[in-house]
Amino acid sequence: MPDIVTDNKMVIDRLYAGELPGRDELKQLLTCHSEEDAEYLFKLARQVRENAYGKDVYIRGLVEFTNYCRNNCYYCGIRHGNSNACRYRLSDGEIYSCCDEGYSLGFRTFVLQGGEDMYFTKEKLCGIIEHIKKKHPDCAITLSVGERDYKDYLAWYESGADRYLLRHETASAEHYNKLHPAEMSSGHRKECLWQLKDIGYQTGAGFMAGSPFQTPDCLVDDLYFLYELKPHMAGIGPFIPQKDTPFAGRSSGTLEQTLFLLGIIRLLLPDVLLPATTALGTIAPDGRERGLMAGANVVMPNLSPVSVRDKYNLYDNKISTGEESAQCTELLRKRIEQTGYNMVTGRGDFKKYKQKQTGE
Ligand code: 5AD
Repeated sequence: MPDIVTDNKMVIDRLYAGELPGRDELKQLLTCHSEEDAEYLFKLARQVRENAYGKDVYIRGLVEFTNYCRNNCYYCGIRHGNSNACRYRLSDGEIYSCCDEGYSLGFRTFVLQGGEDMYFTKEKLCGIIEHIKKKHPDCAITLSVGERDYKDYLAWYESGADRYLLRHETASAEHYNKLHPAEMSSGHRKECLWQLKDIGYQTGAGFMAGSPFQTPDCLVDDLYFLYELKPHMAGIGPFIPQKDTPFAGRSSGTLEQTLFLLGIIRLLLPDVLLPATTALGTIAPDGRERGLMAGANVVMPNLSPVSVRDKYNLYDNKISTGEESAQCTELLRKRIEQTGYNMVTGRGDFKKYKQKQTGE
């Protein structure tokens, strides 16, 4: 046993030194580590995040503007085939009101997230982006609307969108096919991510911890893929079953595993913007604080109208009215301060990113 502990610390040290360990070393670290190893990892992860971003925790206002989706991912509660989902779409005016409210609450990043809803055409989203940018030129807009054409991504970027979140979900093609129907592919999803980066977006990838059929090899693939892509953001949260999906009876990913992955990713990508996700806050009451202590530096409170919050049901028991609600930023501020970090307003761009001209 002591040998294993020493080996793991050496692998962690190598990650800290900027090296990419071998597959077997990473696999051992993931599958066989002690609590002491985890504490050591988190300590170094905090050092690295503090070197990059100090004690700052950035907040993003999440606007879940449509739960219509053309896809049928087996894990997701807003999948097309879920006839129990109560579908909604926010009007342009409702989206703007969310941003205006968010602005007065101190948010300077708005994340427009939705299912793959083709009602929001390239042109329609361009109009929405331009409107928000005109009203709030000091704010960043993040889009998270799935796999679309290159020309859509380009047009939205030219309209003023700054960032794009598209989790790769799993880097293993074989695993991808167990989580998605045949019309979706890991290759296409990765291609979209490379396109987004190429266009100039601050780009976010990511995956679920503990999704059905995930093996240690899948996780090593995920870490290698993140290292290769070098995304500016990485969204990592536990899988949580949703009762109307094919994965209803599966068990959730664990807090422990998610935290450990956050720590590794912080060392692998020192400057990455790494959220302590809503899903992490859903599986444990102090999940997001623990995420911050493991290397995360972003939280994304919900800015959607209260009337639709329980309809954006990606998974069961998703939290939406406590301090993850954007309206409760003071509560959130206090909880973040208890971890020794400070909630800051401001765009919170990727450290080395040259900010786009806003026309201000
Ligand atoms: N559990 C956890 N995360 C989920 N997502 C979708 N369904 C679930 C679930 N059941 C995540 C996916 C998606 C993001 C918006 O939410 O990773 O990319």
